[in-house]
Amino acid sequence: MQLNYYIETYGCQMNVADTELMGGVLKHDGHRRVPEPDQADVLIVNTCAIREHAEQRVIGRIGQLNRYKQSRPEVRLGVAGCVAKELGRELLDRATYVDFVVGPDSYRQLPEILARVEGGERVVYDRFNRSEHYENLKPYRLEKFAAWITIMRGCDKFCSYCIVPFTRGREKCRTLESVVEEVETSVADGAQEVTLLGQNVNSYHDGGADFPDLLTAVAAVPSLARVRFTTSHPWDFTEKLVDTIAGHDNIMNHVHLPVQSGSNRVLKAMKREYTRESYSRQIDMLRDRIPHCALSTDIIVGFPGETEADFEATLDLMTHTRYNSAYIFMYSPRPHTPAIDLTDEVVPRAVAQERLECLNELQRSIGAAYLLEKVGTTQPVLVQRAARRGRGLLSGWTEHRETVVFPGSEEMIGEIVLVAIGGFSGFTLHAEPVGEPCPVGRYRGELNIIAG
Ligand code: SAH
Ligand code: SF4
Ligand code: F3S
Repeated sequence: MQLNYYIETYGCQMNVADTELMGGVLKHDGHRRVPEPDQADVLIVNTCAIREHAEQRVIGRIGQLNRYKQSRPEVRLGVAGCVAKELGRELLDRATYVDFVVGPDSYRQLPEILARVEGGERVVYDRFNRSEHYENLKPYRLEKFAAWITIMRGCDKFCSYCIVPFTRGREKCRTLESVVEEVETSVADGAQEVTLLGQNVNSYHDGGADFPDLLTAVAAVPSLARVRFTTSHPWDFTEKLVDTIAGHDNIMNHVHLPVQSGSNRVLKAMKREYTRESYSRQIDMLRDRIPHCALSTDIIVGFPGETEADFEATLDLMTHTRYNSAYIFMYSPRPHTPAIDLTDEVVPRAVAQERLECLNELQRSIGAAYLLEKVGTTQPVLVQRAARRGRGLLSGWTEHRETVVFPGSEEMIGEIVLVAIGGFSGFTLHAEPVGEPCPVGRYRGELNIIAG
């Protein structure tokens, strides 16, 4: 029986990659992806549990999707991803219209799950599976030219606020050979850019190779124009990695290095295992070797016990580090995590909100200064899609992963083209195309070429 399926994805890039993985499993089983829920027989919500708000949003969305079941009773509704793992069977009790719950280690079992659901059962597949290494699964890519490739799953760091080790389990790394093989297949299928994914890619190892070795092997795949990776934990961010980035034109000069806080006291309570000073030394080393490297980060405000002085330390770190971009979050207590017990030290919501707005304000002005530096330069851009707003406009990414919009035709999607940056609004650069589309990789790494 062929079913039409629709998957909606929330959370991080790992979930985007997992949606493609589920798509691959379902395609192999003879089912067809449809872009809208009203055309689907099976609806799957791939969920995120990182903050309470994210979790409530997806639970609300599952409730909304129930209306498709009400109008067509044959429709089946499933919950995948981190909320599926976190809540498991409880989801079936809380939402009687949910037919199946599938955790991150069980996507290979989707055909079996669908067969049982078609037979009238409601099922939960939420166990961690140490022997699931995700080998030999061909993802169904949503974009041909940009491939997300998971190199490791889970996390062993157990930061005191974070639910990921409980929803994704312990670290498991793929072999170097299988990653390189997937990169080669993606390039053969049209990928210009690959992004290697893991909660902490720096701790990648496959017995012999470490992460810089893997990066070197991936960068050597012929015709691959752009290599990216995310996320790096400052704990094991090494000189070898920086030298590897510096030594390859097609490894993009952009590092996402979440700091979380500028206060050593808070970092210790978060179990981040580095200090503000050691972090700043890593940034100095990175900028010394790659002066134009873009840097982004994640920050949590309002962690239990965060004082005004702690917050000032974060403000100071951000002022001095000058990130190109920063994702700033308000602390959210999560089940299973040790920080949830720090109830005596809760930072009032209004205070956390004020800190969040203050850091966002600071980051807006720093980010704008970087964008201003780009005005008047030409930049190679990977054309991603038709822009969401504006007819005849395309949207793409610079080497530094800034969004650029510029006029052009949809045949350019998936190409790397040169554009002249004329200005920016918010976090978006505005540009005009320059000449013909570049052959793959021709303009690799040639940044900051002044127009004219
Ligand atoms: N593995 C990555 C982060 C993955 S989660 C790393 O360690 O860098 C993405 C971001 O969500 C984290 O960097 C953190 O800033 C934020 N986050 C995680 N748990 C959170 C929580 N309980 N409350 C608020 N933000 C949280
Ligand atoms: Fe969460 Fe820390 Fe692991 Fe990142 S490194 S996923 S913040 S536990
Ligand atoms: Fe969210 Fe799970 Fe990713 S909790 S951030 S989808 S690993």
